[in-house]
Amino acid sequence: MRLDRRHFIGGVAAGAALAALPPLPRAAARSYELVAAPARFPLHPRGTAALGFNGTFPGPVLRARQGEPVEITLINRLDEPTTVHWHGIRLPNAMDGVPYLTQDHVPPGGKFVYRFTPPDAGTFWYHPHADSLEQLGRGLMGALIVEEREAPRFDADILLVLKDWVLDDQGRIGSLTSVRAAGRAGTFGNHRTVNGRPTWREVLPAGARARVRIAVTDVTRVFQIRLDGTSGMAHVLATDGNAVANPWPLGTHALGPGMRVDIDLLMPRRAGEELKLVDVSAAEPWTVATFVAAPPAPSVRPEMRPLPQADIPPPARNAMSLPLSFSAGHGEGAVVCSPGKTVPLLWAVNNRVSDGLNTEPLARLRAGQSYVAELANLTPHPHPIHLHGHTFDVLQSNLADAPPRHFADTVLLRPDERVRAAFVAAPGRWLLHCHIIEHQASGMAGFLEVA
Ligand code: C2O
Ligand code: CU
Repeated sequence: MRLDRRHFIGGVAAGAALAALPPLPRAAARSYELVAAPARFPLHPRGTAALGFNGTFPGPVLRARQGEPVEITLINRLDEPTTVHWHGIRLPNAMDGVPYLTQDHVPPGGKFVYRFTPPDAGTFWYHPHADSLEQLGRGLMGALIVEEREAPRFDADILLVLKDWVLDDQGRIGSLTSVRAAGRAGTFGNHRTVNGRPTWREVLPAGARARVRIAVTDVTRVFQIRLDGTSGMAHVLATDGNAVANPWPLGTHALGPGMRVDIDLLMPRRAGEELKLVDVSAAEPWTVATFVAAPPAPSVRPEMRPLPQADIPPPARNAMSLPLSFSAGHGEGAVVCSPGKTVPLLWAVNNRVSDGLNTEPLARLRAGQSYVAELANLTPHPHPIHLHGHTFDVLQSNLADAPPRHFADTVLLRPDERVRAAFVAAPGRWLLHCHIIEHQASGMAGFLEVA
């Protein structure tokens, strides 16, 4: 049973429509094996030497159910140490996958079993947290879908995993960093992909309503997603996995590294019409996905409705303020990003450059206490700020065009933006960092110690 399930998932074309996967039977063993190893991906006619989980890009879609335990065995067949972080999941600190902070590195040839019970339903993902620039940058990642207790029905459930690759004309992965780029917005790829392909296409019945889950797993690019087409409609249903109370029109939606959005997509009423999801983050717009309307069929979801509401603890009245500023660092010395590897110091949190070894916390917090993080971007570059093990209630921004109040595990701070984001502290040592990995690796990181 376990093997069948795993092989079935691993064998599905990476990122294929989830509609093709039947929901898990209630009693299925939610047990998976992830093998991290060198792999070749068809990103280029010559193939691309990369790194992958179970040989695929994206890695296998892991499916769990809200409130039910999962167990994932990581097997390291890389030639360097690794770990896996379950991005956005509120879990016990020891399962969070951060070397030096929550666990030891898993050495080449080693294994580690992660066990946790996801409390929140939604679209999450996983990736290594060791030498992230190389390991995540070269393709080690996958989606983790946590099904709602009562799964909302859609006519289709589609996953789109976005990543930009740095490829040369032979299809080889080029250099993923330079000091110059790391000190600015980062090293951008030249080959945007969706589920590892140049674009995605779905044929859906006219008038159908689809749930489209978009996950940005790139290490640098902030994607700007919008819907082109005259007669369809798209609304934001969930941010970083968690349902929004009042879905809002998609508009142009910014998604930085690590961020996800679930969209309610209403297909045009007439067969033959199409909708396009487009990324306008670069001078040349990129068609992420084309949705073609086939002859109509009765829809299981004729109305737009919010998803079941997230059960994130609300901030208490006595919430304490926690200032967190993100700025340029001092440029002296170097930090360790993995055993034997160092990178320059360019960025800081609260004027402190991360030492990469997480020896001193940014702040000591009390478990169960509510905090309002006062996130301040003091730089002219965007920073998607991720706090492990918690979900922020994003209350407000100083910029007028910010999204309404919503939940997030990764808050995109635009240049000079200030955001107030509440959370209830959970016990443990929780990493906080920019998810532009060159920024994280060169100092924009730290941790909160909650006891
Ligand atoms: Cu998705 Cu610490 O990261
Ligand atoms: Cu950053």
